[in-house]
Amino acid sequence: MLAGGALKSEELDREIEATYDLTDQPFGVNIITFSPHFNSQLDACIDRRVSHIIIGGGIPSVEHIARAKRSGAKVVAFAASRAMAIRAIRNGVEALIAEGREAGGHVGPLSTSVLVQDLLSVLGQIPVFVAGGIGCGEMITHYLRLGAAGCQLGTRFVCAEESRVHPLTKQTYLKASGRDAVLSVQLDPEFRVAPVRAIANKASQAFLELQVDTIRRFRAGEISKGEAQFEVEGFWAGRLQRAVLEGDIEFGSLMAGQSVEFVRKAQSVAEIITELSARAEMTAEGLAPTTGPR
Ligand SMILES: Cc1cc2nc3c(=O)[nH]c(=O)nc-3n(C[C@H](O)[C@H](O)[C@H](O)COP(=O)(O)O)c2cc1C
Repeated sequence: MLAGGALKSEELDREIEATYDLTDQPFGVNIITFSPHFNSQLDACIDRRVSHIIIGGGIPSVEHIARAKRSGAKVVAFAASRAMAIRAIRNGVEALIAEGREAGGHVGPLSTSVLVQDLLSVLGQIPVFVAGGIGCGEMITHYLRLGAAGCQLGTRFVCAEESRVHPLTKQTYLKASGRDAVLSVQLDPEFRVAPVRAIANKASQAFLELQVDTIRRFRAGEISKGEAQFEVEGFWAGRLQRAVLEGDIEFGSLMAGQSVEFVRKAQSVAEIITELSARAEMTAEGLAPTTGPR
């Protein structure tokens, strides 16, 4: 999966072209509805005839889905609850990613295990890929047995040799344990904070201090509610890039799932996938080693 993130459409276009150069196998492009470039990113995927368009950041509209499907692409959306899954299916998506709260980055309200149970009836209707907190092949087999079409893993690949993440940031992931991957904290019910899971660092502390200060200034009548919300929401802007590209491990956003517990050594993507699938197959055959994934 190629992540569109906040890339401008020309940049995404170049990444798609570069991915076509690397493989003749199908791949997906992930774009997020709240990206400022979402519409032009979608156009880039359509123009490049991307076979699988994965839309995150909320349920994609009927119009967006129809536009993507007209190009022949399969459209996949995220579901963080049964209600979301049903709406996404009604809007026309062809598959879902059921992502639980253990995942890295923006998360929904339910843990993966509860979400999967909630979606058991949906699992039979369209392909559902399970994501969030998956670190070892044993778990993949478990979800496949429950009816999943596959699994999506993010955190396990952050430190892959092929990953462009800055070496200092990779070191931080390698050292972190599952308990270090915590959710962003919302201090005041009036000022919404999107739940994002990341490795706790100085930025997490600075975010709390910013909220305290912003809320105090709002209560003192120094700033409007809109200005206060804008400051709170703006805090994390650009910080994932700071961590990923610049190696700013203190004030960047170190998005990671609890599955960072299983990121223990630098491996190539091929090694990670071989290890995951070998353990998944052994589990399916009833032969899984019980010594854990490391
Ligand atoms: C560093 C990082 C960046 C991510 N960026 C995106 C993204 O741009 N779009 C998206 O839909 N999901 C994103 N995710 C979530 C992954 O697609 C995936 O669903 C999630 O990592 C699965 O849980 P896991 O982290 O426990 O493997 C990101 C996750 C991480 C760790």
